[in-house]
Amino acid sequence: MKKQFLDLGKQPIANGFLYKDQINDEYFFNLKVAFDEKTKLFTQIEYVDPPLMFNDNYVYRGSLSKTMRDHFKNFSLTLGNNKKILEIGSNDGVFIKNFDPKNTISVEPCGNFARETQNMGYTTYDEFWTQDLANKILINHGKQDIIFAANCICHIPDLDQTFKAVKSLLSEDGTFIFEDPSLAEVINNNSYDQIYDEHPHIFSVISLDNLLQRNGLQVVKVDNLEVHGGSNRIYAKKIGSKVDKTVEQNKSYERILGLDKFETFERFAEKVKQSKNDLIRILKQCKKEGKKVISYGATSKSTTIFNYCNINSDLISYITDTTPEKQGKLSPGTHIPVISPEEGFNESVDFAYLGAWNFINEISKKEDNFLANGGKFITHVPIVKII
Ligand code: TMP
Repeated sequence: MKKQFLDLGKQPIANGFLYKDQINDEYFFNLKVAFDEKTKLFTQIEYVDPPLMFNDNYVYRGSLSKTMRDHFKNFSLTLGNNKKILEIGSNDGVFIKNFDPKNTISVEPCGNFARETQNMGYTTYDEFWTQDLANKILINHGKQDIIFAANCICHIPDLDQTFKAVKSLLSEDGTFIFEDPSLAEVINNNSYDQIYDEHPHIFSVISLDNLLQRNGLQVVKVDNLEVHGGSNRIYAKKIGSKVDKTVEQNKSYERILGLDKFETFERFAEKVKQSKNDLIRILKQCKKEGKKVISYGATSKSTTIFNYCNINSDLISYITDTTPEKQGKLSPGTHIPVISPEEGFNESVDFAYLGAWNFINEISKKEDNFLANGGKFITHVPIVKII
């Protein structure tokens, strides 16, 4: 049974950057967050229909970040190049391009990106991950040694169907490897901006093992990762496989954090409200002092923040972002203009709110001139502060 603990209000499609003439047709939904007592899953009350988010206009491009390119390259080296690999949600090929197209299959429902991996020589199914698709791939290509997904499984509302379909396509000793934001890190960092339409769930290892086990798989190993503000890489195999000690280590840490208890999330909701008040206070103070505040990185995460906190171009002049597909558009919901860093990240900026706080290391290195010249970053993670 799902028990609600947080209401983040009316929210748009988080990656739905739009032009002025599209404002009247903008889609909104109620972003309410709940805890499932049975599976211990952190999940939303109302799931957005996936084709509204993942379609030919999808703008998030994994390859734009050096952090993510290096991350996937390094991991791919550990897997070798002689296994049959399928990736669910291959985006622009940032992971799959490290493998030989002969043994590799991509699944990507966003047509713009599916065409890219197809053009790179990878067999690409431009479809959502379903049991029907798994059946089709089984007939065309046989069982797979590795099924990989990065920042994708937490996008899928129906986890039971997802895991059943994976199991049906895995070879006997095959491994399902997937990485997604870690609930422990969300709670530790108060990073409530990880909650948006594309993340209908945020996973603890405890909840994943419950869900996988009821579908014939189990968590056999966990890697804790720094990417995306703290993620877990989960290795799952068929039930009865050898289980690494990292599984119990992660579960017992999560029990210490209380991720198996509803009360933990009630406390989290209180901290979220506090964070909202603190951020608004800082931004209003900057405005009162005549400072120019912009946002760095037009992230899906910042859509949650801006809409929950009612932050529009009164408080944040514009957002800079390196993604060409976002530039020249308005941010979802509160309609702050998005421009390129070349155009907007200059000496006139006093404060930059870190929409892309999860890339803080990469950004601080790149923007050392901004900091040296007295520019300051604002973040809400783990508490609202000026850096
Ligand atoms: P993400 O947090 O959802 O991964 O999105 C990161 C966004 O931030 C993406 O649109 C690219 C943008 N970005 C910049 O504009 N400059 C940067 O230096 C980095 C690292 C990201």
